[in-house]
Amino acid sequence: MSSSVRQREAFDRRFSAPPERTARMARIVADSMPRPAHAVLDLGCGTGRLARAVAAAHPAASVLGIDISAVNIAAAIESAALERSTAAFRQADYMAFDGGPFDLIVTDGVLHLIPGDTRALFDKLSRDLRAGGVLVCCMPYDSAYNRAFAVVRRAMRACRGAWLDALILALARMLHGREMTTDDLRERVPYMYIPPARTMTAELRNRLAPSVGLRPVGTRPMRSTSLSQLKHNVTIFQKDTTTA
Ligand SMILES: C[S@@+](CC[C@H](N)C(=O)[O-])C[C@H]1O[C@@H](n2cnc3c(N)ncnc32)[C@H](O)[C@@H]1O
Repeated sequence: MSSSVRQREAFDRRFSAPPERTARMARIVADSMPRPAHAVLDLGCGTGRLARAVAAAHPAASVLGIDISAVNIAAAIESAALERSTAAFRQADYMAFDGGPFDLIVTDGVLHLIPGDTRALFDKLSRDLRAGGVLVCCMPYDSAYNRAFAVVRRAMRACRGAWLDALILALARMLHGREMTTDDLRERVPYMYIPPARTMTAELRNRLAPSVGLRPVGTRPMRSTSLSQLKHNVTIFQKDTTTA
């Protein structure tokens, strides 16, 4: 089975970030948007809430959301039609996606889930941006907490079964049953078994990304909503105007 098919199967389910998180990401995008911005990509858009918020706030921009999951893209298209959003959606595995270049790429909680070589991923992100374009990237950062969680997730993956899924869901309901529906909590169970393929390290931010033309221009905190979630922050990169 190819790695793209394995990935599609792993993510063949709905995922929506909490509304407060989407609102914060939309504000960071608004603060980072190059002027004029014609084309925006939401990479790993889930059910499309952030893409729709960006399209509503920037009516002159054309906003495309892509996601490897057909279920997410179907939900995103349905919600966009209901809201009369101008955001468009397409199912695609980012590493095989050919739709750029963009003025801004935003990606929330996705880059650590894409397997393979980190340089190849950031090189593609850079090639998919116009000169001067911006990457707004929210992902887990390098920390003792996240490293410990990666170990736990690897151990849980080794003994995954229906009983462990049920236990995780029961614990999640105890911790978050007041603010989240059981369906929303169930969406998150498979993520408990995925150790991050990468985190945002100083090496990635300050050496690897600049070496492919992406200069770090800022970092923003992102509030964690659960103890079981990897801790994320937002790093903003700008593509060199000298890199093709
Ligand atoms: C944690 S969810 C975040 C969804 C959305 N960004 C949000 O914040 O609501 C991660 C998303 O990345 C998508 N994804 C994972 N690997 C991908 C890939 N190679 N290409 C495109 N999307 C991918 C998954 O299907 C899933 O919707």
